[in-house]
Amino acid sequence: MSTASLTTLITILDCHSTLKNDGEDVIQGLTKNPKTLPAKYFYDSRGSQLFEQICELPEYYPTRTEASILRQYAGEIARITGDCELVELGSGSSTKTRLLLNAYQSRNYSCKYVPVDVSASILKESALQLQVEYPALQVQGLIGTYEQALAQLMPTSRPSRMIFFLGSSLGNFTPQECDVLLNQIKDVLAPGDYFLLGIDLQKSQQILEAAYNDSQGITAAFNLNMLDHLNWRFQGDFDTNLFTHQAIYNQQENQIEMYLHCQTSHVVNLEKLGLNVTWKTGESILTEISRKFDLDTVEKELDSKGLKTIKSFTDPQKWFGLILCQATK
Ligand code: TRP
Repeated sequence: MSTASLTTLITILDCHSTLKNDGEDVIQGLTKNPKTLPAKYFYDSRGSQLFEQICELPEYYPTRTEASILRQYAGEIARITGDCELVELGSGSSTKTRLLLNAYQSRNYSCKYVPVDVSASILKESALQLQVEYPALQVQGLIGTYEQALAQLMPTSRPSRMIFFLGSSLGNFTPQECDVLLNQIKDVLAPGDYFLLGIDLQKSQQILEAAYNDSQGITAAFNLNMLDHLNWRFQGDFDTNLFTHQAIYNQQENQIEMYLHCQTSHVVNLEKLGLNVTWKTGESILTEISRKFDLDTVEKELDSKGLKTIKSFTDPQKWFGLILCQATK
Protein backbone atom coordinates (compact mmCIF):
# COMPACT_ATOMS: atom_id res chain seq x y z
CA MET A 1 0.00 0.00 0.00
CA SER A 2 1.35 3.43 -0.87
CA THR A 3 2.05 6.05 1.74
CA ALA A 4 -0.52 8.34 0.14
CA SER A 5 -3.37 5.92 0.62
CA LEU A 6 -2.16 5.18 4.13
CA THR A 7 -2.21 8.79 5.20
CA THR A 8 -5.57 9.79 3.77
CA LEU A 9 -7.43 8.67 6.87
CA ILE A 10 -5.18 10.56 9.27
CA THR A 11 -5.59 14.18 10.23
CA ILE A 12 -3.60 15.87 12.94
CA LEU A 13 -4.62 19.15 14.50
CA ASP A 14 -2.16 21.11 16.60
CA CYS A 15 -4.17 22.79 19.35
CA HIS A 16 -0.92 24.19 20.78
CA SER A 17 -0.61 26.67 17.93
CA THR A 18 -3.60 28.51 19.32
CA LEU A 19 -1.93 28.65 22.71
CA LYS A 20 -1.18 32.05 24.17
CA ASN A 21 0.94 32.69 27.25
CA ASP A 22 3.17 29.66 26.67
CA GLY A 23 5.28 29.17 29.79
CA GLU A 24 3.08 31.29 32.02
CA ASP A 25 2.45 28.18 34.14
CA VAL A 26 6.22 27.61 34.52
CA ILE A 27 6.72 31.17 35.73
CA GLN A 28 3.89 30.77 38.20
CA GLY A 29 5.13 27.42 39.49
CA LEU A 30 8.78 28.45 39.88
CA THR A 31 8.05 31.72 41.63
CA LYS A 32 5.86 30.02 44.27
CA ASN A 33 7.12 28.72 47.58
CA PRO A 34 7.39 25.72 47.55
CA LYS A 35 8.06 25.58 43.81
CA THR A 36 5.97 23.38 41.54
CA LEU A 37 5.90 22.44 37.86
CA PRO A 38 2.94 21.22 35.77
CA ALA A 39 3.15 17.50 34.96
CA LYS A 40 2.60 18.03 31.23
CA TYR A 41 6.27 19.14 30.94
CA PHE A 42 7.30 15.51 31.47
CA TYR A 43 6.17 14.66 27.99
CA ASP A 44 8.52 15.95 25.34
CA SER A 45 9.79 13.42 22.82
CA ARG A 46 12.42 11.94 25.18
CA GLY A 47 10.03 12.05 28.12
CA SER A 48 7.43 10.09 26.18
CA GLN A 49 10.08 7.51 25.27
CA LEU A 50 11.22 7.21 28.87
CA PHE A 51 7.62 6.83 29.95
CA GLU A 52 7.21 3.95 27.50
CA GLN A 53 10.19 2.32 29.23
CA ILE A 54 8.64 2.93 32.65
CA CYS A 55 5.55 1.05 31.50
CA GLU A 56 7.69 -2.03 30.87
CA LEU A 57 9.58 -1.97 34.17
CA PRO A 58 9.16 -5.00 36.44
CA GLU A 59 8.29 -2.71 39.38
CA TYR A 60 5.78 -0.62 37.45
CA TYR A 61 2.67 -2.83 37.71
CA PRO A 62 -0.06 -0.34 36.58
CA THR A 63 0.40 -0.67 32.79
CA ARG A 64 0.56 -4.46 32.85
CA THR A 65 -2.36 -4.77 35.21
CA GLU A 66 -4.57 -2.36 33.29
CA ALA A 67 -3.67 -4.16 30.03
CA SER A 68 -4.66 -7.50 31.56
CA ILE A 69 -8.06 -6.07 32.53
CA LEU A 70 -8.53 -4.64 29.04
CA ARG A 71 -7.47 -7.93 27.46
CA GLN A 72 -10.16 -9.69 29.43
CA TYR A 73 -12.98 -7.15 29.11
CA ALA A 74 -12.43 -5.15 25.89
CA GLY A 75 -14.97 -7.38 24.12
CA GLU A 76 -17.58 -6.67 26.76
CA ILE A 77 -16.87 -2.93 26.64
CA ALA A 78 -17.28 -2.91 22.83
CA ARG A 79 -20.53 -4.86 23.14
CA ILE A 80 -21.92 -2.36 25.66
CA THR A 81 -20.96 0.82 23.78
CA GLY A 82 -21.52 -0.35 20.21
CA ASP A 83 -19.85 1.44 17.30
CA CYS A 84 -18.48 4.76 18.51
CA GLU A 85 -15.93 7.50 18.27
CA LEU A 86 -13.05 6.65 20.60
CA VAL A 87 -11.37 9.69 22.13
CA GLU A 88 -8.24 8.89 24.14
CA LEU A 89 -6.79 11.43 26.54
CA GLY A 90 -3.00 11.02 26.82
CA SER A 91 -2.69 8.38 24.12
CA GLY A 92 1.13 8.11 24.04
CA SER A 93 2.08 5.05 21.98
CA SER A 94 -1.53 3.79 21.99
CA THR A 95 -0.32 0.33 23.05
CA LYS A 96 -3.24 -0.51 25.33
CA THR A 97 -5.60 1.14 22.83
CA ARG A 98 -4.98 -1.72 20.42
CA LEU A 99 -6.76 -4.06 22.82
CA LEU A 100 -9.87 -1.91 22.47
CA LEU A 101 -9.46 -1.36 18.73
CA ASN A 102 -9.18 -5.12 18.21
CA ALA A 103 -12.38 -5.68 20.15
CA TYR A 104 -14.28 -3.09 18.09
CA GLN A 105 -12.80 -4.42 14.89
CA SER A 106 -13.82 -7.98 15.61
CA ARG A 107 -17.40 -6.77 16.01
CA ASN A 108 -17.04 -5.08 12.61
CA TYR A 109 -17.41 -1.60 14.04
CA SER A 110 -15.52 0.87 11.88
CA CYS A 111 -14.91 3.41 14.70
CA LYS A 112 -13.05 6.64 14.56
CA TYR A 113 -10.05 7.11 16.83
CA VAL A 114 -9.17 10.52 18.26
CA PRO A 115 -5.86 10.33 20.17
CA VAL A 116 -4.97 13.38 22.27
CA ASP A 117 -1.40 13.98 23.45
CA VAL A 118 0.85 16.92 24.35
CA SER A 119 3.79 15.29 22.61
CA ALA A 120 3.54 15.91 18.85
CA SER A 121 6.24 13.39 17.98
CA ILE A 122 4.72 10.39 19.72
CA LEU A 123 1.24 11.30 18.48
CA LYS A 124 2.30 11.48 14.83
CA GLU A 125 4.39 8.33 15.03
CA SER A 126 1.64 6.26 16.61
CA ALA A 127 -1.06 7.59 14.27
CA LEU A 128 1.02 6.46 11.28
CA GLN A 129 1.72 3.12 12.87
CA LEU A 130 -1.97 2.56 13.65
CA GLN A 131 -2.88 3.34 10.08
CA VAL A 132 -0.61 0.52 8.92
CA GLU A 133 -2.15 -1.90 11.39
CA TYR A 134 -5.76 -0.75 10.97
CA PRO A 135 -6.08 0.47 7.36
CA ALA A 136 -9.82 1.18 7.67
CA LEU A 137 -9.52 3.19 10.87
CA GLN A 138 -10.10 6.91 10.66
CA VAL A 139 -7.62 8.66 12.97
CA GLN A 140 -7.90 12.29 13.99
CA GLY A 141 -5.02 13.22 16.28
CA LEU A 142 -5.15 16.26 18.51
CA ILE A 143 -1.87 17.70 19.80
CA GLY A 144 -2.43 19.65 22.99
CA THR A 145 -3.45 19.50 26.60
CA TYR A 146 -6.62 17.65 27.54
CA GLU A 147 -8.34 20.96 28.06
CA GLN A 148 -7.34 22.35 24.68
CA ALA A 149 -8.27 19.14 22.87
CA LEU A 150 -11.64 18.69 24.58
CA ALA A 151 -12.52 22.23 23.54
CA GLN A 152 -11.86 21.26 19.89
CA LEU A 153 -14.15 18.23 19.77
CA MET A 154 -17.01 18.59 17.28
CA PRO A 155 -20.26 16.64 17.64
CA THR A 156 -19.51 13.12 16.46
CA SER A 157 -21.03 11.53 13.37
CA ARG A 158 -20.84 8.09 15.01
CA PRO A 159 -23.77 6.66 16.97
CA SER A 160 -21.96 7.63 20.18
CA ARG A 161 -18.69 8.69 21.69
CA MET A 162 -16.48 7.12 24.32
CA ILE A 163 -13.79 9.22 25.97
CA PHE A 164 -11.20 7.06 27.64
CA PHE A 165 -8.54 8.04 30.09
CA LEU A 166 -6.20 5.22 31.01
CA GLY A 167 -3.02 4.74 33.04
CA SER A 168 -4.44 6.41 36.15
CA SER A 169 -3.45 9.78 34.73
CA LEU A 170 -6.43 11.22 36.59
CA GLY A 171 -4.31 10.62 39.70
CA ASN A 172 -1.78 13.15 38.46
CA PHE A 173 -4.34 15.90 39.07
CA THR A 174 -5.21 17.43 42.44
CA PRO A 175 -8.82 16.88 43.59
CA GLN A 176 -9.71 20.41 42.46
CA GLU A 177 -8.10 19.91 39.04
CA CYS A 178 -9.87 16.53 38.73
CA ASP A 179 -13.13 18.25 39.37
CA VAL A 180 -12.54 20.74 36.57
CA LEU A 181 -11.38 18.05 34.13
CA LEU A 182 -14.26 15.67 34.89
CA ASN A 183 -16.75 18.50 34.43
CA GLN A 184 -15.19 19.32 31.09
CA ILE A 185 -15.33 15.68 30.01
CA LYS A 186 -18.96 15.46 31.09
CA ASP A 187 -19.74 18.60 29.09
CA VAL A 188 -18.48 17.19 25.78
CA LEU A 189 -20.43 13.95 26.23
CA ALA A 190 -24.00 13.80 24.96
CA PRO A 191 -26.49 11.86 27.10
CA GLY A 192 -25.84 8.16 26.46
CA ASP A 193 -22.14 8.68 25.61
CA TYR A 194 -19.48 6.77 27.53
CA PHE A 195 -16.45 7.46 29.67
CA LEU A 196 -13.90 4.74 30.46
CA LEU A 197 -11.54 5.57 33.30
CA GLY A 198 -8.48 3.61 34.47
CA ILE A 199 -7.45 4.19 38.09
CA ASP A 200 -4.69 2.83 40.26
CA LEU A 201 -6.05 1.48 43.56
CA GLN A 202 -4.69 1.83 47.10
CA LYS A 203 -2.20 -0.83 48.13
CA SER A 204 0.90 -1.32 50.30
CA GLN A 205 3.43 1.47 50.56
CA GLN A 206 6.22 -0.90 49.61
CA ILE A 207 4.71 -1.90 46.27
CA LEU A 208 3.80 1.71 45.49
CA GLU A 209 7.19 3.18 46.30
CA ALA A 210 9.02 0.51 44.30
CA ALA A 211 6.88 1.37 41.25
CA TYR A 212 8.14 4.97 41.32
CA ASN A 213 11.74 4.33 42.42
CA ASP A 214 12.77 1.63 39.98
CA SER A 215 16.14 -0.07 40.32
CA GLN A 216 17.27 0.85 36.79
CA GLY A 217 16.81 4.57 37.43
CA ILE A 218 14.42 5.09 34.50
CA THR A 219 11.90 6.96 36.65
CA ALA A 220 14.70 9.18 37.96
CA ALA A 221 15.77 9.95 34.38
CA PHE A 222 12.13 10.66 33.48
CA ASN A 223 11.72 13.05 36.40
CA LEU A 224 15.01 14.87 35.62
CA ASN A 225 14.14 15.07 31.92
CA MET A 226 11.53 17.65 32.82
CA LEU A 227 14.39 20.09 33.49
CA ASP A 228 15.98 19.30 30.11
CA HIS A 229 12.62 19.86 28.49
CA LEU A 230 12.38 23.30 30.12
CA ASN A 231 15.94 23.99 28.91
CA TRP A 232 15.15 23.46 25.23
CA ARG A 233 11.68 24.93 25.36
CA PHE A 234 12.55 28.09 27.25
CA GLN A 235 16.30 28.41 26.65
CA GLY A 236 17.14 27.41 30.18
CA ASP A 237 20.36 26.36 31.87
CA PHE A 238 19.18 23.78 34.39
CA ASP A 239 22.00 21.36 35.27
CA THR A 240 20.33 18.03 35.95
CA ASN A 241 23.43 16.88 37.90
CA LEU A 242 22.47 19.31 40.64
CA PHE A 243 19.14 17.55 41.32
CA THR A 244 18.18 14.07 42.55
CA HIS A 245 14.93 12.13 42.21
CA GLN A 246 12.82 10.77 45.05
CA ALA A 247 9.31 9.32 45.22
CA ILE A 248 7.52 8.77 48.53
CA TYR A 249 4.06 7.55 49.41
CA ASN A 250 2.08 10.01 51.50
CA GLN A 251 -0.26 7.75 53.51
CA GLN A 252 -2.51 10.59 54.69
CA GLU A 253 -3.20 11.84 51.18
CA ASN A 254 -3.01 8.42 49.53
CA GLN A 255 -0.63 9.73 46.94
CA ILE A 256 2.83 9.14 45.55
CA GLU A 257 4.79 12.39 45.59
CA MET A 258 7.61 12.76 43.13
CA TYR A 259 10.32 15.22 44.04
CA LEU A 260 13.51 16.69 42.64
CA HIS A 261 15.89 17.68 45.44
CA CYS A 262 18.39 20.44 44.83
CA GLN A 263 21.93 19.47 45.92
CA THR A 264 23.70 22.85 45.74
CA SER A 265 22.42 26.40 45.91
CA HIS A 266 22.53 28.07 42.51
CA VAL A 267 20.59 30.26 40.09
CA VAL A 268 18.86 28.97 36.98
CA ASN A 269 18.04 31.25 34.07
CA LEU A 270 15.15 30.63 31.69
CA GLU A 271 15.99 33.09 28.95
CA LYS A 272 12.79 32.90 26.95
CA LEU A 273 10.69 33.52 30.04
CA GLY A 274 12.92 36.30 31.34
CA LEU A 275 13.14 34.38 34.58
CA ASN A 276 15.93 33.81 37.12
CA VAL A 277 15.19 31.15 39.70
CA THR A 278 17.18 30.86 42.92
CA TRP A 279 17.62 27.38 44.39
CA LYS A 280 18.79 26.59 47.91
CA THR A 281 20.66 23.46 48.95
CA GLY A 282 18.14 20.86 50.09
CA GLU A 283 15.23 22.66 48.47
CA SER A 284 12.71 20.31 46.88
CA ILE A 285 10.28 20.67 44.05
CA LEU A 286 7.18 18.52 43.80
CA THR A 287 7.03 17.53 40.13
CA GLU A 288 4.11 15.13 40.28
CA ILE A 289 1.52 13.51 42.46
CA SER A 290 -0.01 10.15 41.65
CA ARG A 291 -3.11 9.65 43.74
CA LYS A 292 -4.22 6.14 44.61
CA PHE A 293 -7.95 5.61 44.59
CA ASP A 294 -10.78 3.71 46.17
CA LEU A 295 -13.10 2.32 43.48
CA ASP A 296 -16.39 3.05 45.29
CA THR A 297 -15.40 6.63 46.09
CA VAL A 298 -14.54 7.36 42.47
CA GLU A 299 -17.78 5.77 41.25
CA LYS A 300 -19.74 8.01 43.64
CA GLU A 301 -17.87 11.09 42.47
CA LEU A 302 -18.51 10.25 38.82
CA ASP A 303 -22.15 9.61 39.62
CA SER A 304 -22.48 13.01 41.28
CA LYS A 305 -21.34 14.53 37.97
CA GLY A 306 -23.94 12.68 35.92
CA LEU A 307 -21.57 9.90 34.89
CA LYS A 308 -23.29 6.71 35.98
CA THR A 309 -21.22 3.56 36.37
CA ILE A 310 -22.41 0.77 34.11
CA LYS A 311 -19.75 -1.67 35.13
CA SER A 312 -16.36 -1.69 36.87
CA PHE A 313 -13.63 -4.14 36.07
CA THR A 314 -10.62 -5.08 38.13
CA ASP A 315 -7.83 -7.67 38.33
CA PRO A 316 -7.83 -10.59 40.80
CA GLN A 317 -5.55 -8.68 43.24
CA LYS A 318 -7.68 -5.53 42.93
CA TRP A 319 -4.61 -3.45 42.14
CA PHE A 320 -6.17 -1.47 39.32
CA GLY A 321 -9.70 -0.52 38.31
CA LEU A 322 -11.46 0.33 35.06
CA ILE A 323 -14.77 2.12 35.33
CA LEU A 324 -17.14 2.26 32.37
CA CYS A 325 -19.74 4.95 32.89
CA GLN A 326 -22.40 6.67 30.83
CA ALA A 327 -23.50 10.27 30.71
CA THR A 328 -27.02 10.48 32.04
CA LYS A 329 -28.14 14.06 31.62
N1 TRP B 1 0.05 8.31 35.23
C1 TRP B 1 1.30 7.71 35.65
C2 TRP B 1 1.19 7.34 37.13
O1 TRP B 1 0.70 8.12 37.90
C3 TRP B 1 2.43 8.66 35.43
C4 TRP B 1 3.77 8.21 35.94
C5 TRP B 1 4.22 6.98 36.11
C6 TRP B 1 4.80 9.05 36.35
N2 TRP B 1 5.51 6.98 36.59
C7 TRP B 1 5.86 8.22 36.72
C8 TRP B 1 4.94 10.40 36.40
C9 TRP B 1 7.05 8.75 37.16
C10 TRP B 1 6.13 10.91 36.83
C11 TRP B 1 7.18 10.10 37.21
O2 TRP B 1 1.57 6.26 37.50
